[in-house]
Amino acid sequence: MNVKNANNEIKIFDTTLRDGEQSPGASMNLSEKIRIAEVLEDMGVDIIEAGFPIASDGDFEAVNEIAKLVKGSIICGLARSSRGDIDRCAEAVKPAARGRIHTFISTSPLHMKYKLQMQPEDVHKAVIDSVTYARNFTDDVEWSCEDGSRTEHDFMCQTIESAINAGATTINIPDTVGYAMPSEYAALIEMVRNRVPNIDKAVISVHCHNDLGLAVANSLAAVQSGARQVECTINGLGERAGNAAMEEIIMGLLTRPDHLPYNVNVRSELITKASKLVSTVTGFAVQPNKAIVGANAFAHESGIHQDGMLKNSQTYEIMTPESVGLTESKLVMGKHSGRHAFREKLIELGYDLGDNSIQEAFKRFKQLADLKKDVYDEDIIAIVDDTVVRTNDTINLDKLEVLCGTEHKPPKALMTLNVDGEKISTEMSGDGPVDAIFKGIKYLTGFKPHLQLYQVHAVTQGTDAQAEVTVRLEENGKTVNGQGADTDTMVASAKAYINALNKLLIKRGRSAPSALSA
Ligand code: KIV
Ligand code: ZN
Repeated sequence: MNVKNANNEIKIFDTTLRDGEQSPGASMNLSEKIRIAEVLEDMGVDIIEAGFPIASDGDFEAVNEIAKLVKGSIICGLARSSRGDIDRCAEAVKPAARGRIHTFISTSPLHMKYKLQMQPEDVHKAVIDSVTYARNFTDDVEWSCEDGSRTEHDFMCQTIESAINAGATTINIPDTVGYAMPSEYAALIEMVRNRVPNIDKAVISVHCHNDLGLAVANSLAAVQSGARQVECTINGLGERAGNAAMEEIIMGLLTRPDHLPYNVNVRSELITKASKLVSTVTGFAVQPNKAIVGANAFAHESGIHQDGMLKNSQTYEIMTPESVGLTESKLVMGKHSGRHAFREKLIELGYDLGDNSIQEAFKRFKQLADLKKDVYDEDIIAIVDDTVVRTNDTINLDKLEVLCGTEHKPPKALMTLNVDGEKISTEMSGDGPVDAIFKGIKYLTGFKPHLQLYQVHAVTQGTDAQAEVTVRLEENGKTVNGQGADTDTMVASAKAYINALNKLLIKRGRSAPSALSA
């Protein structure tokens, strides 16, 4: 290992809200992005890439609002090399206590020829122009050579040197297509450190995609070669096979200081909370055997393992569940618990809700405690998530009755919706109870979206567990995810579908009921 840079701190740059959101179906609305950004800030993430402001008004608004609200992390926006992109990005990050402009252009022969249709000299000039221009707005400018791992070394060194001379303070070398091997990528970083004369004036960053399942291995190999910023996402969310998973990077650094003697600012105990939030909001379930955050990551099923664990947990556990925020499911409160205890519990779980939301969540908690003997932390989290997503909805579920089972063929749903204060009812049959419910809602609202995903997840164990349902709907190329939680899976399904419709209404740009007929 040949680390010239004395600085051993690894900066964590989270791009869940930008590269993560680029995965098809993972769209998030403004309030969801803000909730994720707040958790990332609590975690101590150094830089949050909050979006690509030129891409849409929604992206601009998200970066801008996060820049206003989140003060503990650097807020970054992405921009291509054009002035229009950089202007929009600069405007979006302006309210940030510390704002960053991240500008990029492809530098590989393949991308320059086919994607950009530009000559290398013109790309080189665009690098200098874009970084110079971005420096008019902030002294924190990151430059990325897209498709870096397939870029010719001489050209890479030339462009990096020029980007630094133009004022770039972070140089990101992405493995855009997830093609690199760990030793090759480490050697690339080493090459840049040895050949670019002014490289000591910038932080080297890495950004790895997971097409060959090597994103984390490549990132950590690059760190060993001198990279000091790692770009990653929660749960490895991202285009195609995703980006390097932040939880794996953090726990790799914390668990193997003998190989990775670096400091990192992130509080690992918030990893589980962040993972659950991202998976709920996007509807991207985490595979059970996923490292660090999978449901089985700390489960020991086989007799031999259990025996070893009982004698000494280190026999099969290289990190503790507590270190990633996974605590024993705690029995929280019962139906006799009061408002004060509930409020305290919310604070302990890291929620800062307004009075109206607390009131509503407490009402839901009481209803749940009547139905379910044991109420756990996970139940409270599901209630809060469900309450928060439902504020100011135009369409609400008023009543639902479902007739199904062997004696009711076809299944039937009888429902009443409250649409902007007006109650409308129908009775609808379907191929199954969920089909009947969704058809009924579509009939009443006039929506005809395409159902892309219907997913049910049990919040806790046991047959009395709350069901958390995710529904993904698509209308004219716009995708939304709706969530609903209830002890009754049919009610949770109806709520999730309605939640998605409310989000579509906002996407249509009108929240008035007249938008229902659009
Ligand atoms: O994968 C990539 O190259 C990117 C750049 C925009 C940094 O996401
Ligand atoms: Zn990327």
